[in-house]
Amino acid sequence: MKSLAILGSTGSIGVSTLDIVAAHPERFRVVALTAGRNLALLEQQIRTLHPELVAVPDAADAESLRARLGAAAPRILSGRDGLIACAADTGAQMVVSAIVGAAGLEPTLAAIEAGIDVALANKETLVAAGKVVMSAVARHGIHLFPVDSEHSAIFQSLAGHRKDDVRRLILTASGGPFRDRTAGELELVTPADALAHPTWNMGQKITIDSATMMNKGLEVIEAHWLFDLPPEKIAVHIHPESVVHSMVEYVDGSVIAQLGIPDMKTPIALALSWPERLALDLPPLDLCSLGRLHFHEPDNTRFPSLALAYRALRSGGTAPAALNAANEEAVAAFLGHRLGFSVIPQVIAAVLDRQAVLPADTLAEVLAADAAARQTARQLISTEFGGTR
Ligand SMILES: NC(=O)c1ccc[n+]([C@@H]2O[C@H](COP(=O)([O-])OP(=O)(O)OC[C@H]3O[C@@H](n4cnc5c(N)ncnc54)[C@H](OP(=O)(O)O)[C@@H]3O)[C@@H](O)[C@H]2O)c1
Repeated sequence: MKSLAILGSTGSIGVSTLDIVAAHPERFRVVALTAGRNLALLEQQIRTLHPELVAVPDAADAESLRARLGAAAPRILSGRDGLIACAADTGAQMVVSAIVGAAGLEPTLAAIEAGIDVALANKETLVAAGKVVMSAVARHGIHLFPVDSEHSAIFQSLAGHRKDDVRRLILTASGGPFRDRTAGELELVTPADALAHPTWNMGQKITIDSATMMNKGLEVIEAHWLFDLPPEKIAVHIHPESVVHSMVEYVDGSVIAQLGIPDMKTPIALALSWPERLALDLPPLDLCSLGRLHFHEPDNTRFPSLALAYRALRSGGTAPAALNAANEEAVAAFLGHRLGFSVIPQVIAAVLDRQAVLPADTLAEVLAADAAARQTARQLISTEFGGTR
């Protein structure tokens, strides 16, 4: 039985993880849960799973959770230290890192430093602090299993092959709900439009990232760190059906891909059980009914975010942390109706233009770059780009 600490248990990935746990009670035991503000769902999860430790960011929320649970309450902590304790102090064999955004960085790093294997959904951790995280992974000899479907596909397509024989990785992207919209139409997109994703059912932030194509940009940076390949060996193809989850092209021209229906339970389950595969109650992939699969190049003019991510990756140092922080601020402003959809990449580009690229060799350097980029982005959103929505 594998003991799990699930960070972000009330989110889309967290809930899918718990569905897998519920379907395989003989395989997994949940020892810790963390959430943000969804106390109703967290309470329900605690009553069902009986974790030893729980944490939420806000102290008042922790108190109200204790009151709601009464005698059924486990140890409930709050704040940064609480999240870190859930990640590192419960003796869990695996941490599922499924908090959204840079808020997931410190707990994920704490799990690695405690020598615990990580199933990583929180791509922002690797984007902001790839060097810090990967050197901690190497130092502690832990396994970092990708949960992102694209990286899981690449992980599987690399298994049994030599890295030296890889010509390039090809990440697939659905293209989001607006892949066929004109630049003029994109300016009119509302948060409600952007939250309706055609193939994946995900949390709000990643859904917007998917609509701007920044999600693919973050994934390019994530792939660079996970698979230790330079940006010129990481390509992106738009693939609207989201059936080929990604591919590896080898020097002999062979392309190895992983296919499946678009459901995050498959890559989550693989991260939990690798090298075994868990039986999942999902409909089979029916290629004959699908008939055709389509692929084309991304359009960097209508969707400039992907190119911004490549730019940050090539700049190195703190540039990806700044990109990530600026994106989080711009997406939050868009969701709050304070910024237009097409202005999101303009804010990120302006932050990259203004922020010096410094070394990102320590957590402190990454956190400082993150804070500076957020401040610049907030200023730009309220001044230069203010009133764009
Ligand atoms: N969803 C997908 O299909 C998918 C696929 C690949 C990768 N990912 C990645 O997985 C991560 C999670 O995505 P998601 O779609 O599951 O997001 P989500 O549905 O928004 O869930 C995020 C989780 O993080 C918690 N949270 C939010 N802010 C927090 C904070 N400041 N401190 C502590 N906890 C906080 C949320 O709590 P409350 O809800 O209780 O507030 C929730 O449990 C992201 O990094 C995303 O890029 C997701």
